[in-house]
Amino acid sequence: MRRIAVLNQKGGVGKTTSTVNIAAALARQGMRTLVIDLDPQAHATIHLGLMPGRSGPSMYESLTDNLPLEKIKKTVAPNLDVCGSHIDLAAAEVEMISMVGREMILRDLMAAEMSHYDYVLMDCPPSLSVLTLNALCAAGEVLIPLQAHFLALHGLSKLLETINLVSKRVNRELKVAGVVVCMFESGTRLGTEVVEDLDTFFDKRRSNTAPWAEAKVFKSKIRRNIRLAEAPSFGQSIFDYSPTSRGAEDYASLCLELVGIQVPETSEIATPDDPPLVVKTEPSQAPEPAQATEPAQTPELIVAAKQEPVVLKPKEQLPMVSRPAPTPMIYQRPDVSQSVPKPHVMDSKPMPADRETSWTYVTE
Ligand SMILES: Nc1ncnc2c1ncn2[C@@H]1O[C@H](COP(=O)(O)OP(=O)(O)O)[C@@H](O)[C@H]1O
Ligand SMILES: [Mg+2]
Repeated sequence: MRRIAVLNQKGGVGKTTSTVNIAAALARQGMRTLVIDLDPQAHATIHLGLMPGRSGPSMYESLTDNLPLEKIKKTVAPNLDVCGSHIDLAAAEVEMISMVGREMILRDLMAAEMSHYDYVLMDCPPSLSVLTLNALCAAGEVLIPLQAHFLALHGLSKLLETINLVSKRVNRELKVAGVVVCMFESGTRLGTEVVEDLDTFFDKRRSNTAPWAEAKVFKSKIRRNIRLAEAPSFGQSIFDYSPTSRGAEDYASLCLELVGIQVPETSEIATPDDPPLVVKTEPSQAPEPAQATEPAQTPELIVAAKQEPVVLKPKEQLPMVSRPAPTPMIYQRPDVSQSVPKPHVMDSKPMPADRETSWTYVTE
């Protein structure tokens, strides 16, 4: 089982979007995947189609009351479970301060019952709080989403310092898997410069003993894509919401890279939801005579022609190879924008009288 904390203390860099869509991609590849939402804002929970209830069991109860994760997890798609969050989780931080071994609570909860998952992804809050420390103690790897802008690297040293401390003091296994560049503006100098700066940043700090010794900047960049920003409001992953978008393409590629399959560098080909920029050039003085044999290609044709299927070379002994063929997704969420959602209780087992179930699917 791989346990991945998706972490950056900055907000709005793509942690939740990456957690949800990587998890959805892994689940579609037949990997049994669990998302643990550790952010009191519960964005990952909502993005995966659950509505955080006021008093229902969530990560708050697990962390403060030792409620087993098994009791709060919900299945939202084939192979994909979620341990949801709730705004109450903000209070957990205060309550946990007085607890002995407060950083280890999640690790103990996971040790008890997570063995049947292939991947556990933890969506962290935008802070280096006790919730984040719990994720770092429970994780084997850290994935750092980073937004490609000019202050991108600001704060990265602090983050690595924290990871280093946790790895030295409590979790020797902890490694930085790498950095994934989100909201990448392909073709811009800024995007390219940030990637170069990142390479230099890691090269300067590389040492065999550091947890980031093998960290890489993932070749799969997540390009800015409006469909990725729209999907959460429908409670759907990008693969359900817009499977042909470049967002789906990028997260599918990142998922492959994460499981150890070589992928090409993210191309700069645009897809119809983000049409390519039209760059006007002055016509040359002496136009080339048209080739009689080849018809002139329109920009659309060029785009289509470039989108050849990528030949991926799976490494030997990848877990994907031994799995049965991925099950086609049959899980469909209704269009919540068209109707007022009625709660539909997921659990057939009644909750204890003092604990009202409030995890619901958004359904018609
Ligand atoms: N590649 C992308 N293109 C466009 N919008 C994105 C992309 N990635 C994330 N977003 C949007 O940016 C906002 C912040 O992303 P989010 O994943 O919630 O960040 P974090 O969890 O780090 O706070 C969200 O509204 C999300 O939908
Ligand atoms: Mg988030």
